[in-house]
Parts: sequence; C-alpha cells; structure tokens
Amino acid sequence: MIVHLSGVTKRFGERVAVDDLTLNVPAGVCFGLLGPNGAGKTTTLRMIYGVTLPTSGEVRVFGMDAARHVRAVRRRLGVTLQQNVLIETISPRANLTVFGRYHLMDGADLARRVEQLLDFLELRSHADVPVNKLSGGYQRRLAVALSLMNRPELLILDEPTTGLDPAVRLALWSRVRELRRGGTTVLLTTHYMDEAQRLCDVVAIMSAGDVIAQGAPEALIERYLARETVELDATPEEEHALLRGLEESPPRYRAGNRTMLYTDEAGPLLERIRKRPEFDDRAMVARPTNLEDVFLALTGTRLEDDP
Ligand SMILES: Nc1ncnc2c1ncn2[C@@H]1O[C@H](COP(=O)(O)OP(=O)(O)OP(=O)(O)O)[C@@H](O)[C@H]1O
Ligand SMILES: [Mg+2]
Repeated sequence: MIVHLSGVTKRFGERVAVDDLTLNVPAGVCFGLLGPNGAGKTTTLRMIYGVTLPTSGEVRVFGMDAARHVRAVRRRLGVTLQQNVLIETISPRANLTVFGRYHLMDGADLARRVEQLLDFLELRSHADVPVNKLSGGYQRRLAVALSLMNRPELLILDEPTTGLDPAVRLALWSRVRELRRGGTTVLLTTHYMDEAQRLCDVVAIMSAGDVIAQGAPEALIERYLARETVELDATPEEEHALLRGLEESPPRYRAGNRTMLYTDEAGPLLERIRKRPEFDDRAMVARPTNLEDVFLALTGTRLEDDP
C-alpha cells in the first residue's frame, strides 16, 4: 500500500473532522476520495501530506510514518492543495524554477523540467505572464505543474478541476491518465461525480469523517442501486399512485418533485408506469445509473447536517 491509514481521528477542538478512519490506497491506481462539504477529505489529505498531525491513529505513506518522516515522504510526493499556493507577482516559469530549487534541482536539469511542465500543462503561451494576470484555469494548471516538479510517485490533487471550463477539465483528465499509465499513483478529491466515474479505478465515499462505501464506480452502482434509472416528475402522492400494484418497489431517491427509481431493466418499469391513468403524459426518462446517484443515495440526506 502506498498510503495506509488505520484508526485515524482528527479533532479540531470539539469538532471531529476525521473519525476513526481506515483507508488503503494501493500503488498504481487513480483513487478518488469523495464526500459532501465538510466530510473530512481535505483534512485526510493534509495528514497524508504531513501538514496536519492526526489526533490519534496511524498514517503511513510509502511505508513510513507520515508525521515522523515528513521530508522523506515529501520528496516522493506531489500535492495540489484545494487553495492554490502560487507566488502571485512572478510568472509560471519563475514559479516552477523557484519550486524546483526547493526540491534541490538546478542547472540544465531544472531548466529542462520547467520547460517539460510548461508543455505538459499547456502553459507555454502564458509562461512569462505574472500569475496575478492569469485566469483561474491557468493558475490551477500551474498549481498542478508545481506538484509534478519532483516526478512524484504519489500525486495528491484536492479538487483539481473545481472552477475549470469543460475543455480544460478534459485536458487535465487526459494528463492524469497519462501520469497513471506511467506508474504514478493518484489520490484525488472531486465534487464532480462524472469526473470520478471516468477517472478513478477506485473511489471511497466519505461522510462525517469516515468512509461509508468503497469500490470501483461500476461495482458501487451495482451494489447499492441498480444499472438503470427512471427519472420521473411526481409528488410523493403521485409516485405512490403510479407505483401501486408493483410486486417489488424499486429503491429510489427524491429531490423535490423529481424522483429517481433504480432498476436492473428500465423498459418494463417505464411501460408499467405509462399505462397508469395517473401518468397523464408527465416527464419521464430512463438513463444508465451513475456514481452521482450512488453518492446522493448514500450521503444526500446528510448534506444539510453540515454547518
Ligand atoms: N483548521 C481547522 N480548524 C477547525 N476546524 C477545521 C479545520 N480544518 C477543517 N475543519 C473542520 O473539519 C471538518 C472537515 O473539513 P475538511 O476541510 O476536511 O472537509 P472537506 O471534505 O475537504 O470539505 P470540502 O468538500 O468543502 O472541501 C469541517 O467541519 C471543517 O469545518
Ligand atoms: Mg476540502
């Protein structure tokens, strides 16, 4: 295991941010840490990176105690924090150079790496523009470039694509895939379930400081819901009438007056609902179930619990 957490708790005063968490990230995968706001994702990543100490429990990275071997761990690890850490007044090229020196690189080796990363994150056209004149998308890509400076074995990305436009997101996904193919282990958080589903081999869904479900996205869909979803506009009373007489009522999730019904085969359910007099040509669609459905089913009711 590249990352191994066992029985990890982190308290901030009275608040328990991470609660007796056990988490294992194997080498070579893209691992997604998901969860609603305040679930404890960033706190978990910060303990792995060694900037926050656990209140209790064990955090091991590359087999080493992350709290005790901070330097040795950081040498082999790259991190893009949720908030960019950039020197605002100087250019991307200069930021990369400064950060390379921090990693004790210099001369031709450093210059080569800086140019490689400018190309890899498509920053070349803005390489010499001061950071505070760059759009959010460029700044975020620079933050990712910085985290790759030392060719890390483990790359940690805390919400790397929040606020990026669709084209930049796609470009960044392909870079992450490329890194993973090259053997880098990637541990990322995201609120975009389509991103997690496309990018991650394994996801862990956190809620209130602990993992409540873990597995490959497709496996989670099958385990918790079903392959297909019927979305239907209906009040609870209308839904009740429409589903009356079904031998087995399907698992469902309600958001306002829209209800999602999960089923292995949507066809027969659609037909059945359409035939009811109450149906009355209302909006109804069938689609494949996705990771967002699983996320909502497992964490949706808890969203409002977070302050
Ligand atoms: N330095 C701190 N001091 C006090 N409380 C903190 C601190 N850092 C985090 N917390 C609390 O710990 C809990 C978990 O926060 P964390 O930032 O890890 O959540 P998150 O899953 O990353 O959320 P988000 O999706 O919004 O980024 C929250 O309730 C937060 O308010
Ligand atoms: Mg966070």
